[in-house]
Amino acid sequence: MENNATVKKDRVLSLIQPTSVPTLGNYLGALKNWKEMSEDNDCLFGLADLHAITVRQEPAKLRKLSYEMYALLLSIGLDPDKNIIFTQSHVPEHSQLGWILNCYTQFGEASRMTQFKDKSAKHADNVNVGLFAYPTLMAADILLYQADYVPVGIDQKQHLELTRDIAERFNGAYSPTFTVPKPYIGKAGAKVMSLQDPTKKMSKSDPNPKASVSLLDKPEDIMKKFKSAVTDSEAKVRYAEGKDGINNLMSIYSCCTGLSYEEIERDFDGKGYGDFKTAVAESVIEELRPIQDKYSQLINDKAYLEQCAADGAEKARRIARKTLDKVMRKVGFWQIKK
Ligand code: TRP
Repeated sequence: MENNATVKKDRVLSLIQPTSVPTLGNYLGALKNWKEMSEDNDCLFGLADLHAITVRQEPAKLRKLSYEMYALLLSIGLDPDKNIIFTQSHVPEHSQLGWILNCYTQFGEASRMTQFKDKSAKHADNVNVGLFAYPTLMAADILLYQADYVPVGIDQKQHLELTRDIAERFNGAYSPTFTVPKPYIGKAGAKVMSLQDPTKKMSKSDPNPKASVSLLDKPEDIMKKFKSAVTDSEAKVRYAEGKDGINNLMSIYSCCTGLSYEEIERDFDGKGYGDFKTAVAESVIEELRPIQDKYSQLINDKAYLEQCAADGAEKARRIARKTLDKVMRKVGFWQIKK
């Protein structure tokens, strides 16, 4: 359709925690879709640093990673002039609405969140109140901007359902205030598995460095990691149950080249896993090359990145402030002229 000013674009919002350099899994599963969505929607993307401190972070590392991840978001092709690319802690309205929504969420509801149960088991020495309130802060992130769609992975779906419940409850108790957001189920964002144990999701926290590929890995390291990827003994490139390693490599290769599984099977008919692994690694290296080039150009341009982050925060705040003002009026806070 032609660009028509009267057609309102859908608003899409998603955040990512700046706790590690994203892996190839984060990229093919989420970030690559962000870039695609950013082309024809009204998008807000950013860093969930307030969420990050629900588990203990080393301050210098969090600061450095936030800066680097902001640069990476621009490097994957998100355009700060067309969309809003921002950091959660730069917009105080997130914490403010988060508090209010805590008061509209039942203890029982929050207790049923499976991620809370999993994380409190994993960090038994630091089950802080923020970890418990994580989903209401996420609801605030979304509702502040009246987002229509939220691209989320399966692990965040329950939080999005809670967000919808909170929004409907608030709208019902007062009057329509929040857009009730829908999950965005894009075309199957690839679920990338560990290269060393392809029954497990690729994760940065895997103690085996060969199990995951980071977006900033050097080409020669990417090649090495794919060459040592765990496969099977059939020596036939085909997608089939029980061939988790090959299935994973085929899925990665398909995402990076656009080839279907049938085409891949045909191209590698009669060839061994060695050739296939090399081809997969090369496709990943090519996929990441423009991102890495852009990143190395941006990362030392501190003035530019800070300016983009400041502009992003200001644009985000303008929208967030409007929603928060409305909410504060509805719950009965005394309004004074500012
Ligand atoms: N909780 C999300 C995650 O860890 C990150 C997040 C925070 C988020 N706020 C959000 C995602 C709002 C979507 C919308 O993956």
